[in-house]
Amino acid sequence: MSLLGLSEMSAGEMQHLLQLSRDLDPCLAGPYQAPSPYAHSLRGRVVGLLFFETSTRTRSSFELAVHHLGGYPLVLSIEGSSVKKGETELDTCRNLRAMGVQAFVVRHSSYEVMLEIHTGLDVPVINAGVGCVEHPTQALLDLRTLQDALDCRDFEGKKIAIIGDIVHSRVARSNVYGFSALGAEVVLAGPESLLPPEEDRHGYAGARFVTSRAEALADADAVMMLRIQKERIEGEVDLETFISKWRVDQRVVESEMKPGVPILHPGPVLRGEELTSEVIDGPRSLILRQVRNGVAVRQAVLYHTLV
Ligand code: NCD
Repeated sequence: MSLLGLSEMSAGEMQHLLQLSRDLDPCLAGPYQAPSPYAHSLRGRVVGLLFFETSTRTRSSFELAVHHLGGYPLVLSIEGSSVKKGETELDTCRNLRAMGVQAFVVRHSSYEVMLEIHTGLDVPVINAGVGCVEHPTQALLDLRTLQDALDCRDFEGKKIAIIGDIVHSRVARSNVYGFSALGAEVVLAGPESLLPPEEDRHGYAGARFVTSRAEALADADAVMMLRIQKERIEGEVDLETFISKWRVDQRVVESEMKPGVPILHPGPVLRGEELTSEVIDGPRSLILRQVRNGVAVRQAVLYHTLV
């Protein structure tokens, strides 16, 4: 079984993976210390981690997740691969498959390339963030983090605001599918230039689009901030205007948000742009909890797809 996105996943399947990630938490104590029933579930299995785009959190947590389940992660980054010499990604994967790799975790700028790998090989493929389309394991770890923080299992009656560079964000898209499936109202906010064009908005599972920070934050039960993805934007970005209209600092937290509302961010955080350091390191920030949960959630996904 593969995991290409959350758009096709049922709420029941998501809840199953989230519960499984809780059962797998003890593995985080270290496979050599905590005897976990899952510690050897990938024994003898080789998982190829193919990162054709940069990554810190996602790559490291997948690598740790494979280790915690007793498997062997084979990490290939684009800089050191033959794709640089002109080999197709599918051929690279065929070669790794011939060496015994039994699943691929793929990050790539193109959704089509991931699909080619998926249809061209007989092994599971896990999407680790593809183009501007989907980043399902990030959304699952966000769901898990917010379930724990709000002490709930579904998000019926809750409003989740996602703010920043929406149009380039695969995280926003997967989160829309995830949070909507679990009952939340999702509001996507940012300057008009960073929102998807009108004709593409139907692809966001009924999320509401707004162009005012105050409107997005009012009554929100959780807020996720996103950086501007400058590497995907041609031409100048008007950072000063973005900061003055959209950045969340301590004053905004106190004047525009309900008390105690948690703040999430998928990383990398650009300090001083979408959030100030005071907020990033403050009591409402769940950022490092998201990172921690990323390992257990990825273990759950690997277990579910491979065992
Ligand atoms: C995100 C990504 O790569 O899509 N990061 C991540 O995986 N944690 C978001 C981003 O790059 O801004």
